[in-house]
Amino acid sequence: MASTEYTERTYIMVKPDGVERGLVGEIIKRFENKGYQLVAIELFKAEKTILEEHYKDLSGRSFFPRLIAYMQSGPVVGMVWQGKEVVKTGRLLLGATNPLESAPGTIRGDFCVDVGQNLCHGSDSVQNAESEIKLWFPRGVTQWKRERLDSLLY
Ligand code: PPS
Repeated sequence: MASTEYTERTYIMVKPDGVERGLVGEIIKRFENKGYQLVAIELFKAEKTILEEHYKDLSGRSFFPRLIAYMQSGPVVGMVWQGKEVVKTGRLLLGATNPLESAPGTIRGDFCVDVGQNLCHGSDSVQNAESEIKLWFPRGVTQWKRERLDSLLY
C-alpha cells in the first residue's frame, strides 16, 4: 500500500505521442512501482487556452506555437500523483527534457528521442505543481474524486 503520510503532489501529463504509442500504462507503472499514489486521472483533449496558460512562461519561444499544436494533436492523460518528494523524484523518473540527454532507465531515456515529442510533462516545482493541478482539475481533486469515484466505490 502506498504511504498516504506525505501530501506533496505533482501534475504529470502524458502527451499525445505517449497516449498514441500506448505508453500510459508504462508511465503509471513506473510511478506506482516507486511507491507513489495516483489521486486523480483524466483522458481528454487539452483546450488551447488552458495549454497557453500552462505553458505561458514559454510564450516567447520560437517553438511555442508548435508545442501548443502538438499538445492538441490528440488526447492527453492528466494525472495527480502524491508522495514523498514526488515533484523532484517524478522529474527524475521522466528524465531530462531533451530525450537525447535523458539517462537510460528513465521514461524519456527509454522511449523517445525528440524534445518536441517527449512523451510526458512533469511539474518542475511544488508551487508550479499546485498551480497546474488547479488549472487542469479546476474543481479540485477532492471534488473530482467525489464526482468520479464515490459512485463506483460505495
Ligand atoms: S527551456 O526553456 O527550453 O529550457 O524549456 P524546458 O524547461 O527545457 O522545456 C519546457 C517545455 O518546452 C518543451 N520544449 C519543446 N517543445 C517543442 N519543441 C522544442 N524545441 C522544445 N524545447 C522544449 C519541453 O518539452 C517542455 O515541455 P514540458 O511539457 O514542460 O515537459
